[in-house]
Amino acid sequence: MKVLVVGGGGREHAICWKLAQSPKVTELYCAPGNAGISSVATCVPIGATDVDAMVQWAKDNSMDFVMVAPDDPLALGMVDALEAEGIRAFGPRKNAAIIEASKAFSKELMKKYHIPTAAYQTFTDQESALAYIDQQGAPIVVKADGLALGKGVTVAATVEEAKQAVKEMMEGGKFGASGSTVVIEECMTGPEVTVLAFADGEHVVPMLSSQDHKRAYDGNQGPNTGGMGAFTPSPNYTPEIAKTCMEQIFLPTMAALKAEGRPFKGVIYFGLMLTPKGPKVVEYNARFGDPETQALLYQLDTDLFDIFNACVDGTLDQLDIQWKDGAACCLVLASGGYPLSYEKGNVISGLDQVKDAFVFHAGTKFGADGEYLTNGGRVLGVTARGATLAEAVDNAYRGAKPIHWKDMHFRTDIGKVWING
Ligand code: AMP
Ligand code: GLY
Repeated sequence: MKVLVVGGGGREHAICWKLAQSPKVTELYCAPGNAGISSVATCVPIGATDVDAMVQWAKDNSMDFVMVAPDDPLALGMVDALEAEGIRAFGPRKNAAIIEASKAFSKELMKKYHIPTAAYQTFTDQESALAYIDQQGAPIVVKADGLALGKGVTVAATVEEAKQAVKEMMEGGKFGASGSTVVIEECMTGPEVTVLAFADGEHVVPMLSSQDHKRAYDGNQGPNTGGMGAFTPSPNYTPEIAKTCMEQIFLPTMAALKAEGRPFKGVIYFGLMLTPKGPKVVEYNARFGDPETQALLYQLDTDLFDIFNACVDGTLDQLDIQWKDGAACCLVLASGGYPLSYEKGNVISGLDQVKDAFVFHAGTKFGADGEYLTNGGRVLGVTARGATLAEAVDNAYRGAKPIHWKDMHFRTDIGKVWING
């Protein structure tokens, strides 16, 4: 089978790495890919959001299957466009990808179907939003409606901070059209956990639980990023909590989307908070998370291409998905300054000395002499496993040790809070 993966980050490297192990995948392509991905797939220079060019290329090159990984092409309807050309595609259609693309939509859906989440209101005019903040008081959470690279959320400790966030989103145009509608919600408390699940429109099969680290610096300080490190499984996610989540959140979400005429096929990402009143949804994403995917797929034993096909065919219930025991950790090595401004083009050294870990490339390109250069904010994801979380984390840090480039930055406390209690 000829398979194309759309995207070019660490998540896509992990997906390609895993798909390349399937005996059914005979030719693997990735668009646009990156330098690391080129070791397992042929990279095709088409931007992930260029729907027309992507579909045309898939058609011209007779792809049997296309896996769309990132949020923007999903929200743009790339899966619909591929299907319209008769090409098998993995990922939600546009009308289901909206659970990530519009927070206002997903909050409304949860309310209608009694899926536990923070109380909220949606606003399109600033004055009412500011009045609502005065009425509710702080702490309070302000979110831009649309896609904002995981950075459109302000957890405000004071009324002033919340109002400032509303003003920036609604009049400052900080997130463009994504900020013209804001969702203001109750501030929940409790540990967070992420559960990604495979979905086939009808059935939902959770992967192992995972834990992301969104802030840029140690101790959860600094700005929000796409994620600075992740591990699996989460010690917070007990079998009892898993059962509650299945009954109160996962199955009801699938049923709600189906009832709305938006059956979800692909990977659905449940960002959860384990509040004193039980698990609640913080956010839905319509795709694999990054860097959670690197840790998760490192632990997956089942053929990923079989799983993707079952999702498309609606036969997930007939598959027994197997995971390795123990834990896995993905440590993100980023460019200094990320998520704000950072340099590109720095030479990466030490990759050939990494031991007992696998390095997924997120933002790399080849230099003139075939050397690896930095080419993004998140550059590498050093991924390792261990019998325990502590061992997996330790192996990831030891794996990263030989790697270096100018201004390289990483958090030194991935998993620490969970290991130390
Ligand atoms: P989101 O992009 O919606 O996942 O939000 C980013 C982060 O903001 C989450 O991972 C939480 O840490 C935090 N957050 C979002 N919504 C809430 C809420 N209602 N209460 C408390 N924290 C929240
Ligand atoms: N790591 C968070 C995300 O992919 O949205």
